[in-house]
Order: sequence, then C-alpha cells, then structure tokens
Amino acid sequence: MSVGIERLAVYVPAYALKLEDLAAARGVAPEKYRDGLGLGEMALVPPCEDVVTLAATAGARLIGAAHLDPAQIGMLLVATETPVDHAKPVASFVHGLLGLSSHCRVWDLTHACYAGTAALMTAADWVRAGGHRVRRALVIAADIARYPLGSPGEPTQGAGAVAMLVDAEPQALILSEDTGVHARHVHDFWRPLGRREALVDGQYSIACYLDALTGAFTAFRALERPPFEPGEAFTDRVAHLLYHSPFPKMAAKAHRRLVEIDWRAAPGRVVEDLDTAAAASFRELVAPGLEAIARVGNCYTASLYFCLAALLEAQGRRLGGRRLGLFSYGSGSCAEFFSGLVPASVAAVSDAGVAASLARRTYVDVAAYERLARAPETGGDPPPGFAGAFIFEGVRGEQRRYARVGI
Ligand code: CAA
Repeated sequence: MSVGIERLAVYVPAYALKLEDLAAARGVAPEKYRDGLGLGEMALVPPCEDVVTLAATAGARLIGAAHLDPAQIGMLLVATETPVDHAKPVASFVHGLLGLSSHCRVWDLTHACYAGTAALMTAADWVRAGGHRVRRALVIAADIARYPLGSPGEPTQGAGAVAMLVDAEPQALILSEDTGVHARHVHDFWRPLGRREALVDGQYSIACYLDALTGAFTAFRALERPPFEPGEAFTDRVAHLLYHSPFPKMAAKAHRRLVEIDWRAAPGRVVEDLDTAAAASFRELVAPGLEAIARVGNCYTASLYFCLAALLEAQGRRLGGRRLGLFSYGSGSCAEFFSGLVPASVAAVSDAGVAASLARRTYVDVAAYERLARAPETGGDPPPGFAGAFIFEGVRGEQRRYARVGI
C-alpha cells in the first residue's frame, strides 16, 4: 500500500519585515543576514493572528482545495511549539473552527521543530494500520518563532503553517517506510513555561543539529535498498534534498555534512575537492527548495514542510517519478531522515498556495515590528487586505475567542 501526503496547503501570516531594514536598525551589515544566514524577509503575525488562526487557515485551505468532506477526516494532529494553553490543545480549537467530525481523534504534538515529522509518521502508521479501511488524517504543522529583540536569534524569526492530508492516495509524496532516527537530551534551544521568546545556545544548537543529522542519516543510509553500486552515493538517487531550515545557510551546513558522510561511504568514489563538489551539489539538490523559506524565516516545525510545499509548487511537474530526501531536526533533541517518491500525478496538486500567500503580505517597518513584538496578545480586527480565514478576537471569561472571516 502506498501511504503519504495527498496534498499540502500553506498559510503565511499577513505581515512581513525586510531583513535589510532590520540590519540597518541593528547596525549590522545587510550581507550578514542575506549571505551569512541566507535570509531576506521574516513573516510576522498581526494582533488578530496566533498559532490557532495560522493552523486553522492552512487546514481550511487544504479542505477546500481537496474538495474534502470534513467528516472524512478521522485524525487531526497539530504539531506546534507555540501552544496557547497548558491543557487545551491547539488541535481542539482547530477541530471546532474547521467543523470536523466528533468521531475524529484530536491532539497536539510538541517536540520543537521535530513535531511535524512525528505527526506525519504517526498519521502514516495509522493509515497503514487501517489496511483496506479508508483512513484520512489531517496533519498541521504551525509555529511562530520569537527571540528577544536585538538577540542573535532575532533575524531568524518567522511564522507559518502547513496542512497535509495523509492517506493511501498520495499525489504529492509517497513516504518511505524506512527512516533513520537520532535522539539525544541536549539543552540547545528551549522555552521555559511563561516565556514568549525562546532561549537558545546558538552555536551549540548548530553543532547539535549537525550531530543529529550524522546519526539519523547514517542510520537511514544503512537501510537503503537496493545496495549501493561501487562509487554510488545516496545523493545520486535523489532529485532534491530538503532540510529543516531555521535559516537557509543551516541547510548549506547540513548538506556539506551529509555529502561528506555519504560520499566517504561510497567506495571508489573519487572527489578531488570536497568543498567545491559539495557546493555544486548544494546548488543543484538543495538551493531550489530554499527560495520561499528565505522570505518567511523560521516557522519551526512547519519549516521542512513549507520547503516541500514550495518545491513541489515551483517544480512539481519536473519532479514526477523522482525521489526526495528529507531531514527533520527538533532541538532537545530528536531528528529523522526519510525519503519520499513524488508521484507522476503531482502536477494536479502542486499549487499549495505558497506564491499567492507571499504575494499578499503587508510589509511593516522596524518601529511597527518592535511594537508588535512588545505588545501583549490581545487579539484584534483583521488588517486591510487580510487573506486569512480566521481571526483571534481576544480573551473573554478566560477563554480565547475566534471568528471566521474568510474562505
Ligand atoms: N557578510 C557575510 N556573512 C557574514 C557577515 C558579513 N558581513 N558577518 C557575519 N557573517 C556570517 C558569519 O561568518 C556566519 O557564517 P558561517 O556560520 O558560515 O561562518 C553567519 O554570518 C552567522 O554569523 P555568526 O557566526 O556571527 O552568528 P550569529 O551570532 O549571528 O548567530 C545563529 C547565528 C547562531 C544562527 C543565531 O541566529 C541563532 O541563535 N539563531 C537561532 C538558533 C538556530 O536557528 N539554530 C539552528 C540550529 S537549531 C534548529 O535548527 C532548531 C530551530 O529551528 C531553532
């Protein structure tokens, strides 16, 4: 049975900040953000949006695009590290806003940026376990990345949501069953209860990410079938590689590490200048998947799937019948390397709304961004041209209230 992602839909919040403006305000050379981190813009949420509205809008777009009866969804998993309550899951709000069936299982998953992959794998296993019973799961990865103003993490903020329909009729990606996992307890990035901004040991987090990639990819590569021919590497078997991308330069560091492991494990492969060859491999296999995320920033657990949606949207027709490699990293930590086959029919589902979402944003200046960052979460009215389907109205009687405004 082929199980995987039938289609994806994304939602990017209404506001954005150009990083050249942030660089000027912080007295930083713009090249540091553009070339050093690979970032151009960051997505920001207006007061009327939070992680619930991001997730619900992505879910509504997916249900609309797939012409799906919500009653057909038997499992709703929301992956997020930006919850709005200690007990009530984001998925519960989303379940209500989307009008899903009362016979649907509903829960959140949290493990930093890994939770989206945990949700995807859980949903795929549930579909497989159903055998010939038709099972459809809605998986939504949604996050808002916040670091303290003026901190090194500040330019790597962002926000967004990706909804995925997981079932036995995948048209976007057929998931491999063999994956490589690596988990280790580390304090590289965390957010204590009560804090809105994350704490991070930046350079250590990069080292932890690369160690986790080494562990997960090595485990995955050992399971690869058919066995490698002399001189053949895993990179020869894929059209593209997608990495969790807190900032695009992280994917370049990751690819350099993967290539080193992969090519050194290929007996007979002759590489004279590894750095030059790895850079060429990055341009061919990785860079095309990073163009859109450079305009969104880190959307934590949605990041990898935003890259997948953007790649399929931009190049779907060319990728039919080709294989992709994917790497998911969640600080703390857990990581997974897996692969997927893009079905020949991908062109029918490849519009995930990436280009349209990016085109409809309002750019704010640094003063407005700082006011938003300092403001308490009160909810509010939708700004002019708002493209989301739901707004956060505010808190009444200690309960968060939402309203449908679009779609
Ligand atoms: N022109 C071009 N490049 C420049 C430059 C200039 N004028 N000045 C500096 N640079 C380059 C640096 O050489 C460096 O590149 P290399 O790493 O390739 O050497 C890059 O810009 C970053 O500069 P710094 O090394 O000075 O690092 P920083 O203090 O700006 O911090 C960071 C960078 C650690 C990523 C920080 O932004 C941060 O803490 N981000 C949040 C944590 C994070 O994203 N970690 C990633 C791994 S963990 C993970 O993936 C989970 C998650 O989502 C959080």
